[in-house]
Amino acid sequence: MAKIWFLTGNAGKVEEAKHHFAEHGYVVEQLVVDQEIIEPQADSLTQVAQAKIAQALEHMPGKEDMLLVEDAGLFVETLGGFPGVYSSYALKTIGCAGILSLLSNLVSEDPVLSGNLRKAEFRAVAALWRDGEILIGEGVCPGRIAEKESGESGFGFDPIFIPADLDALGNPIPFESQGESSTHGETFSDIGLEEKKKYSHRSRAIESLLSKL
Ligand code: IMP
Repeated sequence: MAKIWFLTGNAGKVEEAKHHFAEHGYVVEQLVVDQEIIEPQADSLTQVAQAKIAQALEHMPGKEDMLLVEDAGLFVETLGGFPGVYSSYALKTIGCAGILSLLSNLVSEDPVLSGNLRKAEFRAVAALWRDGEILIGEGVCPGRIAEKESGESGFGFDPIFIPADLDALGNPIPFESQGESSTHGETFSDIGLEEKKKYSHRSRAIESLLSKL
């Protein structure tokens, strides 16, 4: 079976990737490197992912295997896409409370208007190195920033992110229309991981990558 080394410190992400790739006959193993991988200050997630691949290749056990990296972030429309590629840093510094405070004046009695003013999306890039070539898969999860933190599960900006409802095909629909699949205004932290995977930018990025393999 073809092997994919996944550069990540997060065992949960490895499990998720295993689940997606196993169905297509690939084995995924976590690649742990003892040297720090530097994330460059770049404008796009793809550039960050490519830079990580270049560094991680030196640590890969066998060049006949493949190498996977992922990069994700939260992009808030009214903040010009911030925190975007700086999401990890923004989480450590201003956190969920800081993002809520930046949007604190963007509240309306009208839930549709309020949702549109607080539009945001999670984006993910999954980049796979295979025999000198890099394949890129992109995934987006549209939604909005909640008015307050809510929920116990998940990580990062999950407590303040409400995914958009989905139609029967799994595509996001506007806030004002009721979807076939909906968290009914609950955040990613309110719902469990299994439910989150239905909406997740990460799942979509990996599925997009798989369609190119
Ligand atoms: P990473 O590239 O997947 O490590 O994501 C970078 C940062 O984006 C994380 O530190 C989080 O702040 C944020 N982020 C990415 N994906 C998610 C998610 O699914 N939920 C919450 N926050 C996320």
